[in-house]
Amino acid sequence: MRDLNETNITDAVLAKVRQSENPRVRQISEALVRHLHAFVRDIEPTQVEWDAAIEFLTRTGQMCGATRQEFVLLSDALGVSMLVDAINHRFPGGATETTVLGPFYVQNAPERDLGDDISNGMQGEPLLIEGSVSRINGAPLVGAIVDTWHADGGGFYDVQNATGQEGLAGRSRFRTDEHGRFWFRSIVPAFYPIPDDGPVGEMLKSQGRHPYRPAHVHFMIGYPGCETLVTHVFLAGDKYLDSDVVFGVKNSLIKSLEFQDVGETARGNLVDQPMKALRYDFILTEERSAVA
Ligand code: BEZ
Ligand code: FE
Repeated sequence: MRDLNETNITDAVLAKVRQSENPRVRQISEALVRHLHAFVRDIEPTQVEWDAAIEFLTRTGQMCGATRQEFVLLSDALGVSMLVDAINHRFPGGATETTVLGPFYVQNAPERDLGDDISNGMQGEPLLIEGSVSRINGAPLVGAIVDTWHADGGGFYDVQNATGQEGLAGRSRFRTDEHGRFWFRSIVPAFYPIPDDGPVGEMLKSQGRHPYRPAHVHFMIGYPGCETLVTHVFLAGDKYLDSDVVFGVKNSLIKSLEFQDVGETARGNLVDQPMKALRYDFILTEERSAVA
């Protein structure tokens, strides 16, 4: 293994990484070397460019901490998160489609009663959200956990500490009722930029891209024996629906805001002021181990 050159170095490295006893490590290492060497052959970087690439990745790592994960953001902005999501959610037709989790999820958000207002001082137009959770065969899922979070009317999440609210806001967990239904009140979220003050923001700028995501409400819905659903509902008409910076929009997840007058909704819930309404019925699929 001497005198390696442009022509034979890839095979020499492949021969080394093939030595792993773990077949999955072998498979991943071989693919990594093949694709990485092909990439370098394709772009033929100058030494200055390669040093800049290493420095970019170094700064990406240095930016990561308890409240910032720049590598996930990089994966999101390069479409890799949605590709991994697609590979891992080859669900049967009929199940609600999935999309990225994003960095603003908070575990164990407070559980509230159906009908509560979760906006907690966030600025924005009042919004009613009504929905249901069922299996593909239509059976309602009673007691499903509906974890939801969204930005405010200015495009900020509570955890960004820019919304003027105290503590957690625009996020909560609910339990579906005896018909598999849930409802709550909040405010209409706006489109927003992903955190773009780091290496990923620089990359977007240099690629001539904007950093925006179309307005949406996040949902993570769990029920024993079902695959946990991680998804959003996007607001129809948003100007960024066709250029989401993280490639997460699916047609089946876009809903128009409706108008809800004071009084009883078609689903039997009571509102005390006219407001916009977002309605979505979620369908969970059986846990993969149960299907196989
Ligand atoms: C979000 O929707 O919260 C999000 C997703 C990916 C990157 C940044 C934000
Ligand atoms: Fe979001």
